[in-house]
Amino acid sequence: MKSTTERKREHLEICLHEPVEMERPTGFEHYRFLHEALPEIAPEDVDIRTAFLGRELAMPFIISSMTGGAARGLEINRHLAAAANALGIPMAVGSQRAALRHPEARQSFGVVREVAPDVPVYANLGAAQLNRGYGLAELRQVIGMIDADGLFLHLNPLQEAIQEGGNTDYRNLAVRIGEVARGLGRPVLAKEVGAGISPRTARLLSDSGVAAIDVSGAGGTSWSKIEALRAEEPARRQLGLRFAEWGIPTAQSLVLCRAELPGMPLIASGGIRDGITAAKALALGADLVGLALPLLSAADVSQEAVEDVLLRFARELRLAMFLVGARDLGELRRGQHLVAELS
Ligand SMILES: Cc1cc2nc3c(=O)[nH]c(=O)nc-3n(C[C@H](O)[C@H](O)[C@H](O)COP(=O)(O)O)c2cc1C
Repeated sequence: MKSTTERKREHLEICLHEPVEMERPTGFEHYRFLHEALPEIAPEDVDIRTAFLGRELAMPFIISSMTGGAARGLEINRHLAAAANALGIPMAVGSQRAALRHPEARQSFGVVREVAPDVPVYANLGAAQLNRGYGLAELRQVIGMIDADGLFLHLNPLQEAIQEGGNTDYRNLAVRIGEVARGLGRPVLAKEVGAGISPRTARLLSDSGVAAIDVSGAGGTSWSKIEALRAEEPARRQLGLRFAEWGIPTAQSLVLCRAELPGMPLIASGGIRDGITAAKALALGADLVGLALPLLSAADVSQEAVEDVLLRFARELRLAMFLVGARDLGELRRGQHLVAELS
């Protein structure tokens, strides 16, 4: 079986060079903004600043968990973190599991806090590791590695089921998450990786004491497809391709979780590829919008390339808000600006 570091390297290569996105859409295509020909504001009145878990942010975006570990991961993380700091948005790192066992991998995570001292940064580990002997000591270590503002625990049962040697022991995890959420002393956040969070799971997570949930729904990066592309056995590859489109579309997961948990900070991610779609997610109740794959190839190039993508999203979001007459994100959310798309 391949090492965690080797697996991460393959994930990066595949995500950079292969078609890893789902064919099916995110569900946001079912909504359309009600255009206001008399918005009664000017574009410069639009304010997209927000707050998340007590921190002020310049824009309602978060760079979702991606990488670390591999040498290439260090440069990618440096570019992502520098862009996050320059633009005033938070960043989450990729799984730090490899760095717990291999000290030489730590620098690729540590660099994030070095170049992003002014914005929230979040650590990341698989929740299922809590069933494999990981506890508060390991979680504190990954937090310490980047002086993180909080920790994302990722829930990825589909990916683990397709991956050779994947960790599929999800028994009693909600209880284990509750134990660490209570004991860690920093916020614990939970996320999927592209298959969505149901209202039942959202409720379990809320009862366990998580501080925020990233629904990371279907319609973007497909981890089942990525594992299928890596699989050596034909049966594993076939299973991965069969489930390549599996999951709750991002828009549906967001709407269901928002209805279940009106007060929970929610992040919408999974297939959000432009600022109009980001605006729809915010109007449907997301507190932040998360981006992973659209930033990866830019981050392989430079900080400026990452900033360009994020600034395009911000420009599109601002224009959408101007065109519905929403001065700020509160007005975008409260204003009932979305209608069902006519077919
Ligand atoms: C290259 C790459 C690596 C990722 N690694 C992680 C990870 O280590 N931990 C995690 O929680 N999510 C990871 N993700 C999942 C993303 O954080 C996100 O939930 C998912 O890709 C959906 O967003 P997208 O459609 O914008 O890519 C990764 C995504 C990509 C593209």
